[in-house]
Amino acid sequence: MHFTRMSSYNDSDIPVIVRGSGPYVYDDKGKRYLDGLAGLFVSMVGHGRTELAEAASKQASELAYFPLWSYAHPAAVELAARLADLAPGDLNRVFFTTSGSEAVESAWKLAKAYFKRIGQPTRYKVLSREYAYHGTSMGALAITGLSSIKHDFEPLPPGGIRVPNTNFYRAPSFVSSSEEEFGIWAADEIERAILREDAESVAAVYLEPVQNSGGCFTPPPGYFQRVREICDKYGVLLVSDEVICAFGRLGYYFGAERYGYQPDIITFAKGATSGYSPLGGMIVRDELMEPFLTGTATFLHGITFAGHPVSSAVALANLDVFERENLLGNVRSNEAGFRASLDKLLDLPIVGNVRGAGYFYGIELVKDKATKETFDEDESERLLRGFLSHALFDAGLVCRADDRGDPVIQLAPPLICTQEHFDEMEQILRTVLTEAWTRI
Ligand SMILES: Cc1ncc(COP(=O)(O)O)c(C=O)c1O
Repeated sequence: MHFTRMSSYNDSDIPVIVRGSGPYVYDDKGKRYLDGLAGLFVSMVGHGRTELAEAASKQASELAYFPLWSYAHPAAVELAARLADLAPGDLNRVFFTTSGSEAVESAWKLAKAYFKRIGQPTRYKVLSREYAYHGTSMGALAITGLSSIKHDFEPLPPGGIRVPNTNFYRAPSFVSSSEEEFGIWAADEIERAILREDAESVAAVYLEPVQNSGGCFTPPPGYFQRVREICDKYGVLLVSDEVICAFGRLGYYFGAERYGYQPDIITFAKGATSGYSPLGGMIVRDELMEPFLTGTATFLHGITFAGHPVSSAVALANLDVFERENLLGNVRSNEAGFRASLDKLLDLPIVGNVRGAGYFYGIELVKDKATKETFDEDESERLLRGFLSHALFDAGLVCRADDRGDPVIQLAPPLICTQEHFDEMEQILRTVLTEAWTRI
């Protein structure tokens, strides 16, 4: 199993999920769970949508497969045009993949190849933030900022450089009194890293609009604007890794729109099809494609199943649901209610911080609220793996208890959720976290 200690199932059964309906899924014993994580930040429109299944079936009957290697097919053409229309600014060129890791890695390859072709061949390094997760294939793993999941696979491709993340709750004391100041400091750390590494060796900066790993670090006001200035100053590409944040998670098609910045590349996957079929990709500025448009020039990269006809057809049907049911509007009008429900948990001694945006929240757990003291490794092990992960699931909530940074519970429900689902989440979390406190 992926990212799972197999021994944790020595004495218990692996949960088997057999079907889903709306924001709920059901196991093989018929028990119902509220899917507070949209599977894995994926099921935007919710489960059991026959219309998406029918789009897949229709496409498979008509043309199940053909590659995008020197051919095209109508579903990919239509989807690329629709994504280019939705994407901000001159992000008009779409390159499909099958996953987020491939999207992240394709963007790195594009950046390197682009710079070689425009006469800046020394640019290959990429900056990313501490704890940020950008995928698991070797290139994407080199960009990922979680050292604990890298050691087994080292040496990785060279060039992955870390900069601070935007966890204001744990901001260094010299910038902890103002979120704006903290944001400018964190952005300026990117400039310092570019200069330290030699600006002419840096190709790109990878940032999520809201960083998932570590627990929903939102960007401080002004952060992305400052980062954009720095990227422009040193000729570095800004990659907005929106594998989680695109397609409504933050109430917009793309997270960059919510925070008002213009990336050079957006990477996406997950919610593009709401998981009814796998698809990822990158959307890039016209300018980045120019060196590949003439003579013998070629972007020497490709993936057999990228832009698969079935996945492309499903993505189009998924976007139809977004439009018809105004899912972005649903997130925007309900996100304050979601936040208020989670904020109620702040009366529990174990809940240190609630942070996030849209339908995307992290709840940081602490040992001492006043000092923000966190749990040591043993306590965290007992709390998260020994109790919370199972207890929350047993109580009927799919969410994620994660300690890759400080311990957090992560929530990212389907975009169809409303107040009744937020209430249900709050009640389950309250009961389980109250019991967790008695076990510390
Ligand atoms: C921000 C981000 N980038 C990249 C990835 C990798 O995507 P995938 O698991 O589809 O390869 C993920 C996966 O969770 C992600 O959250």
